[in-house]
Amino acid sequence: MEKNVEKMLNKVSVVFLSIGTVIMVIMILQTPKTCISPEAPSKPHTHFPRSTCDSSPRQHLPLAKKNARVWSSKAWKSRLSSFSDYFLRFRDLGFLQNHTKALCLSAGAGHAPMALSQIGLADVTGIELVDSIPLVKRADPHNLPFFDGVFDFAFTAHLAEALFPWRFVEEMERTVRHGGFCVVAVDECGGDDVRDISKFFTKSKVVDVANVTLEGSKRTSILFKVQDSPT
Ligand SMILES: *[C@@H]1O[C@H](CO)[C@@H](O)[C@H](O)[C@H]1NC(C)=O
Ligand SMILES: *[C@@H]1O[C@H](CO)[C@@H](O)[C@H](O)[C@H]1NC(C)=O
Repeated sequence: MEKNVEKMLNKVSVVFLSIGTVIMVIMILQTPKTCISPEAPSKPHTHFPRSTCDSSPRQHLPLAKKNARVWSSKAWKSRLSSFSDYFLRFRDLGFLQNHTKALCLSAGAGHAPMALSQIGLADVTGIELVDSIPLVKRADPHNLPFFDGVFDFAFTAHLAEALFPWRFVEEMERTVRHGGFCVVAVDECGGDDVRDISKFFTKSKVVDVANVTLEGSKRTSILFKVQDSPT
């Protein structure tokens, strides 16, 4: 009786082993369906990989063409002119010149750097966690890849979103030379908030505060002058 059971179990395991081997061989021989390259998409630039193993080469719209399309859009132009108006005020006040070396932190798609270039600045750098070549390079605003004091002017409209505002401001002040300017545009606020924000700028003094409209929103713009020694 026990011998019979043992024999039967042996047979069963042999059968399962064979089935398993056959399935494995089939799996090895067959290309997974998800990896079969799909027929050529009709619009190459709208083709996204369907799975992580999609190995068909992705075709991109050439960067220059893509940029030209984005930059000619109405939304882009209106934001750009909003930044230009904003920076022109600083130029009129004498804080910006053509030779001013400017840095835009958390520059997004690059409206601010483009506006600064358009009003005549020859040397403008934009940085953001995600790059938008050629206007914005990839860098962490909390850890700028620049030497101390290499800029004359640093601007951000995104201090409020910074993970570590202290560190963000520290890097702004570090990379701007003594006597240079740091500018932040924040949501419109009154004197108490301005004082709170200025506490982040341990090496600078408030020089100019103004309520402005930027990108269609009411903002308060605060301009700091970086001092020679900590105040
Ligand atoms: C600044 O640059 C702009 C554009 O390049 C030019 O039109 C303007 O004359 C320059 N301004 C000065 C003061 O050099
Ligand atoms: C900006 O507007 C706020 C009210 O939203 C006001 O309290 C503040 O004084 C204004 N600042 C300036 C510089 O006009």
